[in-house]
Amino acid sequence: MQFSTKIFPQADLESQKSLKPSLKSLLAHNTDCLVLAYSKADLDGFGGAKAAKAKSSYLTELDQLLGGSVTHANVLGDLDAKPASICVLRAEKSWAASGVKAKRVLLVGLGDAHHVSDRTLLSYSKIARAALKVLSGNSIENALWFVPSFSLMHQVNLIADEVRLTIQYAGDQAYRFGVRQPAMKFKAKDHPDTFKHLVFAGNDACSKEIKDAVAQGIAMVEGMNLAKDLGNLPPNICTPTYLGKAAQGLAKKASLKVEVLGLKQIEALGMGSFLSVAKGSDTPPQFIVMRHQGGKANEAPIVLVGKGITFDTGGISLKPGEAMDEMKYDMCGAASVIGTMYAAALMKLKKNVIGVVPTCENMPSGRATRPGDIVKSMSGQTIEVLNTDAEGRLILCDALTYVERFKPKAVIDVATLTGACIIALGHVHSGLFSDDEGLVNALTKAGNASLDTVWRLPLDAAYHEQLKSNFADVANIGGRPAGSVTAACFLSRFTEKYKWAHLDIAGTAWKSGAAKGSTGRPVPLLLNYLLEQS
Ligand code: BES
Ligand code: MN
Ligand code: ZN
Repeated sequence: MQFSTKIFPQADLESQKSLKPSLKSLLAHNTDCLVLAYSKADLDGFGGAKAAKAKSSYLTELDQLLGGSVTHANVLGDLDAKPASICVLRAEKSWAASGVKAKRVLLVGLGDAHHVSDRTLLSYSKIARAALKVLSGNSIENALWFVPSFSLMHQVNLIADEVRLTIQYAGDQAYRFGVRQPAMKFKAKDHPDTFKHLVFAGNDACSKEIKDAVAQGIAMVEGMNLAKDLGNLPPNICTPTYLGKAAQGLAKKASLKVEVLGLKQIEALGMGSFLSVAKGSDTPPQFIVMRHQGGKANEAPIVLVGKGITFDTGGISLKPGEAMDEMKYDMCGAASVIGTMYAAALMKLKKNVIGVVPTCENMPSGRATRPGDIVKSMSGQTIEVLNTDAEGRLILCDALTYVERFKPKAVIDVATLTGACIIALGHVHSGLFSDDEGLVNALTKAGNASLDTVWRLPLDAAYHEQLKSNFADVANIGGRPAGSVTAACFLSRFTEKYKWAHLDIAGTAWKSGAAKGSTGRPVPLLLNYLLEQS
């Protein structure tokens, strides 16, 4: 899937004066489909007696250039301006007379600018999705998307969000695991989408916004695709070693510094908690550190930490068999951190960002950790492992201690940490835990701007009671009540030296059922956050 920008300097559908030349220049562009959005006001202003009263609309001029095609569609009742309503006009002989090169014009309804609910990013996302769907799976290979027509009722500052979101959705629509990973194509059904190239058209008023947003969107899709690939790969391929090699491969593809620590080095660091999880597996653990140096040398970095359990059997506290295959997705936190680092490097983000991934398998074996075992974390705190299936927090706590050395501006960890988070928030929002109001606000805002949303859950002292152990400093589980909160509380004990937020993505990182697959979340959220910071 390719994305690009084309600027039509004077094109402006809001100015009565320049309507005709604007439409002419857009229609003269050789494309399989010109995508234009229209509002209820545009439709009210179009055609017959009504037009005389209402402010005339760009649809009137368009109709003239298209030899009456818009009128024809309207007579048939195909135009109704409802949000996301779709009408495709196909080229007729008469179009050529006005120099029209577009083979189709897709008119998509925006709704009513006076209705607040029709003017949100969520409403835009439905409109964009509906339009993108028309472009996929048929003879349309490329399209020209006139951005300002979608933004007529929005503030200009939303243009960038809208363009990035459109690219995000187009990327989702075009993603095919079996096409990107031919060696993994065990089924014949994956073919690349027929739709290949989306061109964002703008004018002088918004050319910079669009160009920047397209460049950022392209990088974001690359990062999401990588995160999805890593998530979807089977656990016999996507091992800790594979993740380490994948990260190292990015050092060459983008300017990232990547370091991968092996068993010996992890032992030397004293990561007894991380190692207690890795112990049951024949595959050695890896500790991945990726650096993007886009800011000043002395600028404090933002650190992202991702849970990288490449398969979670539960260990000796073995999970039940149902849907256990989905525990290959237990490295989606790691995948999103690696994907975000890749995208940050591709978009040459002007910030220092460090991605850290502790990765191993959680397996039962004669060498595996037992419930009741006490282990010593890198921080010095001892942990009574009451359930070996609460392993994510055991690998993350040592990573959270490790990152102190970076004197970070903020640390955000991302983990498929608890099934309880799915019970609490379903598959809509990721769980957000933090005591830092600034971080909470920034992450909430970044989530809303990318529709990769979060919902804050509590983290207060009262919940720490549940983590008391009779034999060690802390227990690794806090019982069934508020399972996601006690997991976050456990992590918070290792984050006292810096500002920290935790994202529980158990419900949002992948989809189950017929459309089973990795979603690439929360790469959009993290990238929007990083972009806001720079
Ligand atoms: N990786 C799981 C969490 C999970 C489960 C994510 C299902 C998505 C779907 C995690 O390691 C785990 O097993 N957590 C336990 C914690 C419990 C033992 C306190 C859980 O959620 O059941
Ligand atoms: Mn587990
Ligand atoms: Zn897990």
